[in-house]
Amino acid sequence: MDRRDALKNLLAFVPLGGAFAGISAMGFRFITPKKRDMTRRIFTIHLEELPINATKKFKDLYGRDLVLVRTGEHEVKAMSTVCTHLGCTVYWEKDREEFYCPCHAGRFDKDGKVLAGPPPRPLDSYDVEIDEGNVFIYFKDKEA
Ligand code: FES
Repeated sequence: MDRRDALKNLLAFVPLGGAFAGISAMGFRFITPKKRDMTRRIFTIHLEELPINATKKFKDLYGRDLVLVRTGEHEVKAMSTVCTHLGCTVYWEKDREEFYCPCHAGRFDKDGKVLAGPPPRPLDSYDVEIDEGNVFIYFKDKEA
């Protein structure tokens, strides 16, 4: 077999290699399921039922505590009540318009940013939407 024959034989396998690659890619997609958007929009309360600076407690899809705070005419925040320091429960202080953790005097602003104390990061927050007077929270599933 000379070089020319070897090259012809090699080129004969190119389409076969392409078909194998295509079939392999389809098989890989079949065994690795596509990630889906697992965000859920959940109704919580009518805006008129939540006066400005008032709070309402809820649980997320996994039973974690969160609180809604109406911080303005058309502004509602949804924040985890679990302190990011050692996990104590934080409370909304109306007068100061801050979240307060009584365990080690951690303080967070209305957006959950750390203002004082040892918490290493902001409170976890949830996206909120006010749609025709209804307050919705967006929850992301853990699998997403
Ligand atoms: Fe909240 Fe320490 S647990 S400041």
